[in-house]
Amino acid sequence: MSSSPYNPKDYWIEQGRVYKNNFRYNNKFELQERLLIEYLTSNIFPSIYSEGAPVKLSVLEVGCGFGRITKLLLANFGKSITKYVAVDMSSDQIRNARQFVEDPYMNGKAATTADDNKSRNDDRLEFIVSDIQSVRSTDASKQRYDLVLACEVLLHILPSEIEQVVHLLTEMSNKHIINVDWYEEEVPKKIAPHNFIHRYEEIYAKIPSVKQVRRIPIIKKGMLSKLDTKQSIFHALKQTV
Ligand SMILES: C[S@@+](CC[C@H](N)C(=O)[O-])C[C@H]1O[C@@H](n2cnc3c(N)ncnc32)[C@H](O)[C@@H]1O
Repeated sequence: MSSSPYNPKDYWIEQGRVYKNNFRYNNKFELQERLLIEYLTSNIFPSIYSEGAPVKLSVLEVGCGFGRITKLLLANFGKSITKYVAVDMSSDQIRNARQFVEDPYMNGKAATTADDNKSRNDDRLEFIVSDIQSVRSTDASKQRYDLVLACEVLLHILPSEIEQVVHLLTEMSNKHIINVDWYEEEVPKKIAPHNFIHRYEEIYAKIPSVKQVRRIPIIKKGMLSKLDTKQSIFHALKQTV
């Protein structure tokens, strides 16, 4: 039994009910989204502009919440995406994500059957209610994805489970794994019980199929001001045979 007062499943099922309503977009989210799109444009999707047939990629997003990043990626790279599977353990978040990504077509109707997991207006888009740890028992695990993405999710995984979760994400990827998470060298004295600073670079580096890991701090330094989100983009690249 865990001694932590934080039980991830209970916490996120409860949060899922109010998360979208309580969400307040601010300049840190704006910077996070801008730098993520810039990074993906230069490092993951540029191949679509290369000569010859355009390269298309499949995406698995875990912990998609109400679809903030799902919608952002589809808006920016939709033409290059062959398949987009979005997973979250909260059924409320998945219902909100379907609405948020697909509006105005959904009219708020929730997914109730397996068939409903397919998007009504986009065959490439699929939503699944599952936690990462058991996503292997769903259809989503039957294939690998070119890009596996987790934004502000891994910081909520218990230290006792983080290595196993990063392994799972790596296994489900053909090439790229990207996570966006809180990262500081020094761990602050006070941390909310549902947040953890994990050493992602070290965790990825221990996985034999990972050949390279990059960390890109999400920070903006101006002449007179500085905006530090205390988050980083982590990008692990797998060896391709
Ligand atoms: C802070 S929210 C981030 C949502 C979204 N990725 C974003 O950036 O707007 C974290 C999300 O991860 C989900 N989550 C947390 N742990 C999870 C797990 N083990 N498996 C699947 N989803 C998880 C929660 O339900 C929640 O929707």
